[in-house]
Amino acid sequence: MELKTALVTGASRGIGAAIAAELASQGFFVFGTATSEAGAATISEQLQAQGRGLVLQVQDQESVDRGFTEILERGPAPLVIVNNAGVTRDNLMLRMSADEWQEVVDTNLNGAFRVTKAALRNMVKARWGRIINIGSVVARLGNPGQANYVSSKAGLEGFTRSLALEVGSRGITVNLLAPGFIETDMTAALSDEQTAAMLARIPLGRMGEAKEVAAAVSFLSGDQAAYITGQTIHINGGMFLN
Ligand SMILES: NC(=O)c1ccc[n+]([C@@H]2O[C@H](COP(=O)([O-])OP(=O)(O)OC[C@H]3O[C@@H](n4cnc5c(N)ncnc54)[C@H](OP(=O)(O)O)[C@@H]3O)[C@@H](O)[C@H]2O)c1
Repeated sequence: MELKTALVTGASRGIGAAIAAELASQGFFVFGTATSEAGAATISEQLQAQGRGLVLQVQDQESVDRGFTEILERGPAPLVIVNNAGVTRDNLMLRMSADEWQEVVDTNLNGAFRVTKAALRNMVKARWGRIINIGSVVARLGNPGQANYVSSKAGLEGFTRSLALEVGSRGITVNLLAPGFIETDMTAALSDEQTAAMLARIPLGRMGEAKEVAAAVSFLSGDQAAYITGQTIHINGGMFLN
């Protein structure tokens, strides 16, 4: 039987790499994206026969189109997509440049729009699909120095709810996972002081692991989650209670 195809953006490291590995272990053929050839090669190496790395810049429409052409040349269209690619360009608002704002929103929010749009028609045809967006706890909490990032993640929550209402009748679910502080390159960039302040706010007393986010993606990708849509699911050790 042909394997179901999944697409995970930003799968070269961190949360995306864990998601790609988890979906592969669940029997999906996984396309994982990276921004460089070297990153794509690493993904191919890690996924072996269960998937392939692909160079794809989510902020560039031509790159997304090229990526989808490559995916469709191989076989079935992805019916599970995980919009995980994300960047931070932190700065206080008084100092934030238009470029810092634009880059973050164009990657985190507009990137999800481009990838979802490219995948949606095939999901509608199949009358089955799973769209999983990776947001952030800061969309609810706010975070000084991250007006760009927080806006992009709050936008993704609205996108998730609206799209869920549009496509529910086609058997497609759309959900968002909102991680708290997860150990990856993104949080390694924080100062010791910032990390200590964050840990003090987490009832479970530790940062999360990428595989703990991947486990929720695995659940949402399967038939057992068929009745869950339009939701934000928090994975944050209790630092924010919905
Ligand atoms: N870590 C946390 O605590 C945390 C908390 C809440 C939410 N999140 C969210 O979880 C997601 C993954 O975070 P992470 O911590 O795993 O980040 P990470 O370790 O910094 O990895 C980011 C990933 O995104 C890819 N990427 C960056 N810009 C891209 C672009 N323009 N087009 C396509 N791919 C791009 C990177 O690819 P390259 O390697 O090729 O550059 C990399 O695979 C992000 O959306 C982030 O906002 C993370």
